[in-house]
Amino acid sequence: MSNELSGKKALITGASRGIGRATAIRLAKSGAEVAINFVSNETAARDVASEIIAAGGKAILIKADVSEETDVQQMFSVLQERWGNLDILISNAASGGFRPLMAATPRNFDAAMHTNVRAFMLLVQSAMPMLLKSTGNRKVVALSSHGSHRALNDYALIGASKAAIESLCRHMALEFGPKGINFNCLLAGLVLTDSTRGITDVELAHHESNARMLIGEGRVLQPTDVADVIHFLVSSSSDLIQGQVITVDGGMSLRL
Ligand SMILES: NC(=O)c1ccc[n+]([C@@H]2O[C@H](COP(=O)([O-])OP(=O)(O)OC[C@H]3O[C@@H](n4cnc5c(N)ncnc54)[C@H](OP(=O)(O)O)[C@@H]3O)[C@@H](O)[C@H]2O)c1
Repeated sequence: MSNELSGKKALITGASRGIGRATAIRLAKSGAEVAINFVSNETAARDVASEIIAAGGKAILIKADVSEETDVQQMFSVLQERWGNLDILISNAASGGFRPLMAATPRNFDAAMHTNVRAFMLLVQSAMPMLLKSTGNRKVVALSSHGSHRALNDYALIGASKAAIESLCRHMALEFGPKGINFNCLLAGLVLTDSTRGITDVELAHHESNARMLIGEGRVLQPTDVADVIHFLVSSSSDLIQGQVITVDGGMSLRL
């Protein structure tokens, strides 16, 4: 276990599975005390906490639906009581469903925007007093995807929400950067997780996406690859990276 993030307190939303899970484990390995947020899958969240604690780290669980304002407020009341301050916020939880636009209802639209975009704003607003109580570098990272600026099949609602997240992130950097907080987005390429397993022929798409990477043969983009770069974005090595979207896809998207 390295101690680069020793003494830091980090909240990761949607940390029971996928990229959030890998991130919680990565930050805890580096010495951070982590809060594992989940919405329904308590068993999976407990597994993450157990893995961290078994490796000598510190983890707490917090159930909260990030699309609900009262849940977000309650989550920060718990954190305020347990920790008092916060150094790192990872806005990772997302939903939206994959469907063609003609099948999308206003309810689907609201669900994607509430869970992905509105939650990011609510999380930052609620976290701000605790972030401002911390000293040293404080970091906020939100997850984005290629759908923010490219067109992907059945991805309109999530893609639009990711574009909004990236814009919010830049405006947060403008508004809160001078207070000593870094805001950046991590744009991940296709990773096999529970959410992407719902995409038709995703294994083939993942294989093709990996084959298009510009980093030599044999690498497969994994949640841990994304978590490693999130670790960099919350470490002091990235203090001068502000308001940016950092792509982690092995250069795959550079090809036409
Ligand atoms: N996978 C990819 O290829 C990929 C690519 C680019 C970007 N991303 C982004 O990376 C992030 C993580 O994606 P993933 O594929 O790792 O997802 P995932 O494996 O499906 O996990 C989703 C996580 O979010 C939680 N969650 C869902 N709705 C929530 C809500 N309303 N409140 C609180 N937690 C909620 C889930 O909790 P429960 O377990 O309790 O349900 C779970 O921990 C997302 O922002 C996604 O858009 C993913």
